[in-house]
Amino acid sequence: MDTKISRRGFLEHAMSLGVVGLATAGLCVCMVSGCLKKDKTTEIPAKALVIKPDRVVVDVKQVSVLQKLGGSAKIVHPKLKERIIIVHPSEAQYLALSGLCTHRGKPLAYHHSSKELRCINFGHSRFGMDGIPIKGPAKRPLKVFRTLYLGGILEVFL
Ligand code: FES
Repeated sequence: MDTKISRRGFLEHAMSLGVVGLATAGLCVCMVSGCLKKDKTTEIPAKALVIKPDRVVVDVKQVSVLQKLGGSAKIVHPKLKERIIIVHPSEAQYLALSGLCTHRGKPLAYHHSSKELRCINFGHSRFGMDGIPIKGPAKRPLKVFRTLYLGGILEVFL
């Protein structure tokens, strides 16, 4: 019997065992295999933001992606405890939700065709616009912030 194994065959076998082992240990396989997609959500520039103790004021007139129906953008600021994602799902409606997956904290991206937020971690967890998980592994809902939109100014209450 021929017991030789090619280098490639050995590596493939070792990788499959390693991946299975990590999956068994409950670790995210995506972290190993590099399947984490890039976070492509536009970040709202600091000049379009005013951070107040109880709210964030966004000048939507300065954020072109938020002026388009179906647009989305994220607020990442050192004065805020968490990342917030703003979505524009319908005319004159802006929603603000926490922008990280409640499973393991990966960024979320808005998908207008299905009106849901999806974890960029291999498209795993999905959340409705009410913040409730539609599909796991995330079990906890996203925080939904109260918003007020008037004359191109969006207020997100913390
Ligand atoms: S971080 Fe695991 S599904 Fe989002």
